Formats: sequence, structure tokens, C-alpha cells
Amino acid sequence: MLSQQQLKQQAADAALEFVDAVAAPDVVIGVGTGSTADLFIDGLARFKGRIGATVASSERSAQRLAGHGLKVLNLNEVGTMPIYVDGADEIDARLHMIKGGGGALTREKIVASVAERFICIADESKLVERMGKFPLPVEVIPMAREAVARRLAQLGGQPHLREGFVTDNGNVILDVSGLQITDACALEARINNFAGVVTCGLFAIAGADVALLATQSGIRRLDRPAA
Ligand code: A5P
Repeated sequence: MLSQQQLKQQAADAALEFVDAVAAPDVVIGVGTGSTADLFIDGLARFKGRIGATVASSERSAQRLAGHGLKVLNLNEVGTMPIYVDGADEIDARLHMIKGGGGALTREKIVASVAERFICIADESKLVERMGKFPLPVEVIPMAREAVARRLAQLGGQPHLREGFVTDNGNVILDVSGLQITDACALEARINNFAGVVTCGLFAIAGADVALLATQSGIRRLDRPAA
């Protein structure tokens, strides 16, 4: 029986095969944040010299990449990247995700938006029929915290301030439990439109393109279904 850590390792290794397929001296790889992304970063170290650089979705990942001697670029220096690799807190069969358990959701969404393909790596426990059991992280400008919390409560959610946490962008996170996520794209757009919200952790309008889900019997690959 493989442990969750071994499953995460398996998913990270599977994503390295995608890196292998695109590796070239001018290629930039987009890198996510979290415990599964950390394993991916450690494996990426062996591509030093075979890829041009990386872009990180958090200060934490940037430090880990640099620690391996990998070049880390500012996103403003990058036109495109073939893949962005990151974990998820929940993912469904349409490859919609909830992300932001590590608080890096905004930078994750930004870096992913520049990549041609989003490769999600996770152990199979992250695959859900309907999202929402994992509280939805919402990054909020500090002065709007209470105003946004009231709007989220009107949607049927129970927002809780992530105590003592400040994002890389200097903002706060509200973790919202109890939301009924029936139309993830509509809910993502609605919450993102509240004044004071930087972004919410729903990645549905632009979800993953490929999910590499580690199971006890190997990698289960899911591709985004045609719209
Ligand atoms: C970071 O902000 C998150 O979006 C992570 O990608 C997500 O929480 C998955 O993290 P783990 O790989 O640690 O489960």
C-alpha cells in the first residue's frame, strides 16, 4: 500500500515526463505551489541545463527552485510557456479545481493563464464528484475583508479569516465553507466580481487541461472534456 507521500511523488514524476517532452534551452516551465509541487520542483532539478528557466507561483516555490540552481524569471519577462504544473485541493471530472490551500491562488491563476497547458498533479483523493467540501479560499484586499465576508455569507457560505496569514501580495484569505457549487464557472465569475476580491480559488473558467492522479495501481490520466 503506497502512502499519500508516495502517491504525490508518483504524480510529480509523471509530470516530469511532460517536461521531458518539451525541454529545450529556451523553454520556460511554470511551477505551482504546495507539497506535491515541491516534489515536482525537486525532480525538475535534474533538468538544469536542459530547460531555460522557470516561473514560480509563490515566493516559497521560487526559493525552492533557486535552491536547486534553477533559474527563476519574473513573469513579466516571459511571453509564453508550454506547461504549468501544480497541485489542487479538489478536482472534478471536468478538471475544474479548488486551489489555494497554500494561499498562493492568485499567482497560481496568473502564471497558469500564460501557460499553454495546465498539468494538475495530485493523489486520487483530490478527485471529487462535486467540489465544495474543501473550504473555498478567497484572496481579499484587507480593507474589504468584512464587506466581502458579508457578500460571501449572502451566497450561503461561512467565511473564516485565515488567521495570521498574509499572501505574497500582502492580502488576506477568507476560507469559505458550506458553498453549494453547482455551476463552478458562474460562481467563480460572481465571487471574482465582488469589490475587494483579488481572486477566488475556483479554477473552472480556466481549469486544468490534464490531470495526473496517482492511484494504488498507477497514474490515472484525465483530459479536459471537450466543451
Ligand atoms: C497552493 O496555494 C494550492 O493551490 C496547492 O496547489 C494546493 O493546495 C495543493 O497542495 P498540496 O499538493 O500540498 O495538496
